[in-house]
Amino acid sequence: MIITIDGPAGAGKSSIARRVANELGFEFLDTGAMYRAVTWGAMQRQIAWDDVDALVDFADAVCLVWQDDCIYLDDQDISEEIRSPQVTRHIRHLADPPRIRERITSQQRRIATGRDIVTEGRDQGTEVFPDAHCKIFLTASPEERARRRQQQLAQSGQVMSVEEILTAQNQRDLEDRMRPVGRLRAAADAIVLQTDGMTPDEVRQEVLRLVRKCL
Ligand code: C5P
Repeated sequence: MIITIDGPAGAGKSSIARRVANELGFEFLDTGAMYRAVTWGAMQRQIAWDDVDALVDFADAVCLVWQDDCIYLDDQDISEEIRSPQVTRHIRHLADPPRIRERITSQQRRIATGRDIVTEGRDQGTEVFPDAHCKIFLTASPEERARRRQQQLAQSGQVMSVEEILTAQNQRDLEDRMRPVGRLRAAADAIVLQTDGMTPDEVRQEVLRLVRKCL
């Protein structure tokens, strides 16, 4: 059984998908973390961003392991490193080229084989699992997403204005919506959930209600 949760940056997909997976006893796959991990690995190896062949080889060979909500590359826990602004800035070099996406998509399908899984990202319901049992597109207005992000940053002592966050977020939205393959969009058969004005708990409950209707 496969449940896909796609949507733009800052829509709260990861935390909702993780909680829904826990409640259903499903596994959870954060595909943004995969793109982040491969980007971090390519940076460590100093692979040139325009050397697509080398990036494809790296994406093909890379071994990612998840354990207790942490992600490991070559036995190193890189859960924090992959959230750095530098990684976020460079992700498009790994997320844009269709040949690299093909490799990462194959890994996602391999991971999901024979499992009950909640998988979240941008292209899970459209490209990776078009036959998923339940597809949710989780979204919110840019302003709401930026406000949530600001509160999240404040909890870890980081101060950023909503305007600064909006500028970076708009740029990411644009890149995510424009890529030739795997672009951010709702699948034709996805349920679109607009979460403005909802608390995280309300979103969780609504997603669970929608998912249970599909099961
Ligand atoms: O979800 P998260 O913000 O961690 O994703 C980081 C980036 O990885 C996204 O902005 C997007 O460019 C890329 N990504 C993607 N396809 C996915 C998941 C993430 O291209 N399925």
